[in-house]
Amino acid sequence: MHRIELTAEEVEQALPVVREALSRHGSVESPGFLEEATVYAHELPRRLRSFLNAFRLEEPSGVCVVAGYPVDDARIGPTPSDWRKPAEKSPPAAEEEVFLALCGSLLGDLFSWAHQRDGLICQDLVPIERDAGAMLGSGSALELVWHTEDARYSYRGDYIGLMCLRNPDAVPTTYASIDDIELDPERAAPLFEPRFVFRPDPSHPTDTGCERASILFGDPSSPYLRFDPYSMDRPEDEEARAAMDYLAGELDRRLTGVALRPGECLFIDNYKVVHGRSAFKARFDGTDRWLKRVNITRDLRRSRSARRGVAGRLVF
Ligand SMILES: [Fe+2]
Repeated sequence: MHRIELTAEEVEQALPVVREALSRHGSVESPGFLEEATVYAHELPRRLRSFLNAFRLEEPSGVCVVAGYPVDDARIGPTPSDWRKPAEKSPPAAEEEVFLALCGSLLGDLFSWAHQRDGLICQDLVPIERDAGAMLGSGSALELVWHTEDARYSYRGDYIGLMCLRNPDAVPTTYASIDDIELDPERAAPLFEPRFVFRPDPSHPTDTGCERASILFGDPSSPYLRFDPYSMDRPEDEEARAAMDYLAGELDRRLTGVALRPGECLFIDNYKVVHGRSAFKARFDGTDRWLKRVNITRDLRRSRSARRGVAGRLVF
C-alpha cells in the first residue's frame, strides 16, 4: 500500500492552512474555496505534496493513503443520519472536509454531479436507515459490489478521495487493481472495443442516459479500466459477454480491502481500480462508520459542455 504518515511537525504545518481556508471561505462548497483550493494546497507540507504528485504522475499504485491527520471524535459529534447537511455554515467536521479537499486539489480539481446528492462537493458516506438494503454508498446490510465510480460517464472522476472520520467496526473499503491482473490478450481483446453499454448506477436516480464504450482503454499492455457490471447491459454477443465475465472473475480474485481509521484519507485511482464496501451491521445511533467523499478530475475542460461556466464545478 502506497502510504504516507504525517509527522507531528507536518500536522502543525497543515492545520493553519486548513483553518485559514475555512475561516475565509466557510465551507468546501463555497465557489471561492474551490477556486483557491489548489493555492492553499501549495502550502501543505512538501513531503505530502511530493507524495501525491508522484501518485498522480508515476501511477505507482491504484490507491494511496494519507494518514496522521488528527480527528477529535468528540468535536465532530455524532455520525449524521442522512447525507443532507445541516443548514449551519460550518458543520463540525468542516476542517476535515477542507483537509481532504486540499489533498485532492493536489491531484486535480474537485467537481460534483447535478443529479447526485444535490450537487454537494463533499459528501457524507454514512449508513442511512431507509437505504440499509440498497446497493448504495448509504447502504449497509448489502455488500457494495465493486465498481468504477460513475462508470456511465465520460466525465467521471480520475480519482475518488475518501476521508475516514469514524469506523468502529473496521468495515473495509474493498478494491482491485487492473495492474495486478495478467490478462490473456486473446480473451481480453473484445474489452478494448466499444461493445459495452454503461447505465447510471442507483446513486444517479434521475439520469436515464447511457454511453457505449470499451471497458479497457489506453496502453494495451497496461490498460485503464471502466467497469461496473451491476449497472451495465449484458452484451448480446457471446464473445463480449465471455470477455466481461473473464475480467470480472479476475477482479473478484484480486479483491482486497483496507479498513480506514479516523484521520486516514484514501485516494482511489478511478482509472486503475474498482472499489466497493463490505456489508456491515449499522446501528443508526450516531456511532456508525462515517466517511467523507470527493470527486476529482485531472481536466475540468473535458466536461466544459456539461458545466455552466468556466469555473463551474457542477456537471449536468
Ligand atoms: Fe463508489
